[in-house]
Amino acid sequence: MSKILVTGGLGYIGSHTVVELINAGYEPVIVDDLSNSNIKILDQITKITGKKPVFHQLDLCDVNGVMSLATAEHDIEGIIHFAAFKAVGESVKLPLKYYRNNIFSLINLLDAYYGKPVNFVFSSSCTVYGQPDHLPVNESAPVKPAQSPYGNTKQIAEEILSDMVASGTNYKVISLRYFNPVGAHDTALIGELPIGVPQNLVPFITQTAIGKREKITVFGDDYNTPDGSCVRDYIHVVDLAKAHVAALKLMSGNDFEGYDVFNIGTGKGNSVLEIIAAFEQTTGEKLNYEIGPRRGGDVEQVWGDVSKSEKQLHWSAGLGIDTMMSSAWEWEKYLSNNPL
Ligand code: NAD
Ligand code: WQD
Repeated sequence: MSKILVTGGLGYIGSHTVVELINAGYEPVIVDDLSNSNIKILDQITKITGKKPVFHQLDLCDVNGVMSLATAEHDIEGIIHFAAFKAVGESVKLPLKYYRNNIFSLINLLDAYYGKPVNFVFSSSCTVYGQPDHLPVNESAPVKPAQSPYGNTKQIAEEILSDMVASGTNYKVISLRYFNPVGAHDTALIGELPIGVPQNLVPFITQTAIGKREKITVFGDDYNTPDGSCVRDYIHVVDLAKAHVAALKLMSGNDFEGYDVFNIGTGKGNSVLEIIAAFEQTTGEKLNYEIGPRRGGDVEQVWGDVSKSEKQLHWSAGLGIDTMMSSAWEWEKYLSNNPL
């Protein structure tokens, strides 16, 4: 069985990916320092799959720790590197926290396995495009100046990976540029676990519906979009998880060499008001929302051209907005009855 090291494997996207790796016959080995996750997610993964993955609690900024990890887990075929901090607003206030964690962890990991034939998947983001000049945005669109230190860590990481591969190593590398991941596993045993007040739209919606928040504010309805609210390409986290399995499969064949990037979205855009309406319609819950001012740093609209992923990764998103909303809601209800 192919062993895959999954850094950040107890986090939101990582945990769903671990489940899909097990479903696809891989043996995931999880590394996480629990800085933004809960150890009970390991039991939840075990409940879903019937298999308990090996888990190492380790901060990837710890150079010696990562070297020891690479000795213990020397026989891996791939790495999926999710571990990073991701709060855009916090990164503006605490840039060094973000540069240190997101860049040091990547370099330590690459150093530790340098020279070995490892297939490496990196969690990048559509944030590298900023506000694109053309929509849907494809992978050859220019990378725009980053709007936050968080976004900059993704741009820098992509450059590090590309330079490293160009220098000649045994790594093959794919950066997946995720659009907006939402939703939860259909068992409702894993999902997004925001610490404190959620910054992202869908957890804010579900927490408002369950009564943890009084109301949700729509950040602006005066954009140049059909209903005035911002438009994003929302993708179900299980579809996103499956894209990682597809990336590993592509790299393990003979048709892929070097470094490449792929958009991972649905190829469709939905506005904030459409998401709210879809949530209300699929769940039957009425949301208390109001229109507020724009949020600084938001791009007006972005959705991805996913034809390259369809052709080369043989992957496409299958789950629609209704499933995204209903699964996020089932997870929120599960959490309120079973606090982790
Ligand atoms: P998450 O915070 O739920 O998961 C990240 C995991 O990494 C957490 O479990 C955390 O404890 C762990 N971690 C962080 N720093 C670590 C370190 N130094 N050593 C070991 N473990 C560490 O986030 P997520 O939403 O699952 O995101 C996963 C990746 O995808 C991140 O790289 C993120 O930047 C990227 N991404 C996320 C989104 C999104 O909207 N969720 C969009 C685009 C890209
Ligand atoms: C979506 C839309 C908000 C909350 C962020 C990161 C990006 C990527 C994905 C990691 C926007 C609106 C939100 C609320 C609202 N992450 N909104 N009220 O900003 O598209 O992307 O997560 O790489 O880098 O920036 O996602 O979920 O925060 O917002 O109206 O309470 O919902 O203005 O239009 P975003 P989001």
